[in-house]
Amino acid sequence: MFLKRSKSIVGLDIGSHAVKAVELTQVGSDYVLTEYGKTQIYSEGSISDAIAELLSHCRFRTKRVVTAVSGKSVIVRYLSLVQMSDEELRSAIRFEADKYIPFDVDDVVLDCQKLHIAPGAAGIDAGQDNEMRVLLVACKRSLVEDHFTLLSGLGLQPEIIDVDAFALGNAYDFMNRLGDNFADEDKVVALVDIGANKTNINIVCGNTSYFTREIYLGGDDFTGGIAKKLNLDLHEAEVLKRDPGEQIEEAKESVYPYIDDLGNEIRLSFDYYENQFDREVEEVYLSGGGARLVFLEEALEKTFEKKTTLWNPLQHLKSSDRVDRDLLEENAAQLAIAVGLASRLRAA
Ligand SMILES: Nc1ncnc2c1ncn2[C@@H]1O[C@H](COP(=O)(O)OP(=O)(O)OP(=O)(O)O)[C@@H](O)[C@H]1O
Ligand SMILES: [Mg+2]
Repeated sequence: MFLKRSKSIVGLDIGSHAVKAVELTQVGSDYVLTEYGKTQIYSEGSISDAIAELLSHCRFRTKRVVTAVSGKSVIVRYLSLVQMSDEELRSAIRFEADKYIPFDVDDVVLDCQKLHIAPGAAGIDAGQDNEMRVLLVACKRSLVEDHFTLLSGLGLQPEIIDVDAFALGNAYDFMNRLGDNFADEDKVVALVDIGANKTNINIVCGNTSYFTREIYLGGDDFTGGIAKKLNLDLHEAEVLKRDPGEQIEEAKESVYPYIDDLGNEIRLSFDYYENQFDREVEEVYLSGGGARLVFLEEALEKTFEKKTTLWNPLQHLKSSDRVDRDLLEENAAQLAIAVGLASRLRAA
């Protein structure tokens, strides 16, 4: 029998509430989701146990993983610099990074990338002829090292350490490419991933990121709101949040103030982008476990006054026969970052 060459990678999204993993396998020029999993993290000290539990449930073909960092130890800056070669850029950034980041340069891992902006794309001229836009990412070295130690200690082989917001952008680009959806390449879309404790925003046009921000509000704030208002413990509030049934009105009333706070913060980011680039955010794509709240889409759409949908990053992705597709679809929005991480297989 003829066996096509295949290679696989696991996107491992280590959140504060759950670990999510998606394994992608490339077969010829095709991509297939060959395994996925999700386990809950019970406390900050038990992240390693949660990943080990996930690894014991899942049958991954590979030890190669792509994971991500996020939070206050990660700094992202969009810079306008004079045109220079990649090599010149790398050395310039090393000398000038302290202008842009609040940490000691010796304590961080730096990465930078030229942003290729088509003239007129996303409403900006690409700057002066002699200028270019550059994305600078700095991450505390200790955070990267902790990730390596954690993953290597579990027998995994970390290949790339990404940033949550960019993984989200990669998932969006991957989905558009699989669906041959080039019509949306010039559309400004806000990707908003609502986790347990934080919300990541990445405003993109095609495969270029224009703005990212992290807001420290998420699904656990909704649970807290229900617990407080309805006098429940957190476990009971979580159960009610996931399936409010006849108590939907009480659930809405308890959660709306938190949705308002989050929605207003997100809207500030849209305003910032729109003022800076003189172009409107056209559509909002929600993802993350926090976005699974049944009435969230509608509530945020009202706040944003823009089309707002819970998106499915797996829409055009095939899965192997032993994957339960219905269950996968149910969890799809929560897997967006893991999908984006695994989509690095394209370049691996
Ligand atoms: N069916 C559901 N309905 C409503 N909320 C849900 C549902 N399933 C999960 N959640 C909520 O999703 C959140 C977890 O989502 P996710 O896995 O994206 O977070 P995380 O990545 O672990 O957190 P973070 O990114 O903030 O570190 C929790 O607040 C949980 O209560
Ligand atoms: Mg998350």
